[in-house]
Amino acid sequence: MGVQFRIKQRSVFKLDLTQAIKNRHSVRQFTDEKVPLATIKAILQDAQLAPSWVNSQPYQVHLLMGDALEAVRTAQAQLEKAGTKGTPDVPVMGRQHWSPQAQRNMAAWTAGLGNAAPLMAPAAAQLYHAPAILYLTLPTGYSDWSLYDLGAFGESILLGASARGLATMTAYQLIKYPQLLRQHLNISAAQQIIIGIAIGKEDPAAAVNTQIKTTRMPLDAILTVHEHLPNS
Ligand SMILES: Cc1cc2nc3c(=O)[nH]c(=O)nc-3n(C[C@H](O)[C@H](O)[C@H](O)COP(=O)(O)O)c2cc1C
Repeated sequence: MGVQFRIKQRSVFKLDLTQAIKNRHSVRQFTDEKVPLATIKAILQDAQLAPSWVNSQPYQVHLLMGDALEAVRTAQAQLEKAGTKGTPDVPVMGRQHWSPQAQRNMAAWTAGLGNAAPLMAPAAAQLYHAPAILYLTLPTGYSDWSLYDLGAFGESILLGASARGLATMTAYQLIKYPQLLRQHLNISAAQQIIIGIAIGKEDPAAAVNTQIKTTRMPLDAILTVHEHLPNS
């Protein structure tokens, strides 16, 4: 454990993997600090090492930053203000259709938001004040397996960012208006916008960050160990 220093072209500060995993959490308010393009590229290059079905690497990444991001931020805030309903490319399934296990976890998370609940929509409406957003897409007509691959790629991005002391936010809120993104980013209908990942420095003083704590089920609640065959 501990910290590692790697020398490539310049020295890169990186946390140990376990610490990067443990440090990662969803951040809903970022500071003004910009993230260098070179850092984001390094994170993405590492994430490209994620496995995928027959090495299909089916995804594309659209990185939004600078003036282009500010234009999308303004346009999305207007849609939010007008109460425009989200129409994501991946349909959202009503909570009542999820498994009992998932429903219990979602209900516990929602109940646990407490005072932070009213802070979430305004934070989302200004795209969490993020200095950069990655939109991950898949080609229209993608295999279900590609969703698995995109998830592995996405988590690798989060961990690569965490290892470099950066915070991330994976959010439906970032891709709820795909038409807006298609217009501004020139993404064609041949690409489905699956998820958005905001990246930047965490604002440690923001209540929307400090007040939301998430838990996980005990491992025994999801793990069944099969060491001996039932009839042996
Ligand atoms: C696909 C996906 C979409 C998400 N969308 C949102 C969102 O729209 N708004 C939000 O506040 N959190 C969103 N989250 C964050 C989850 O609520 C969060 O990952 C979960 O509560 C666990 O917390 P943690 O990431 O801090 O460990 C999303 C997470 C995933 C994986």
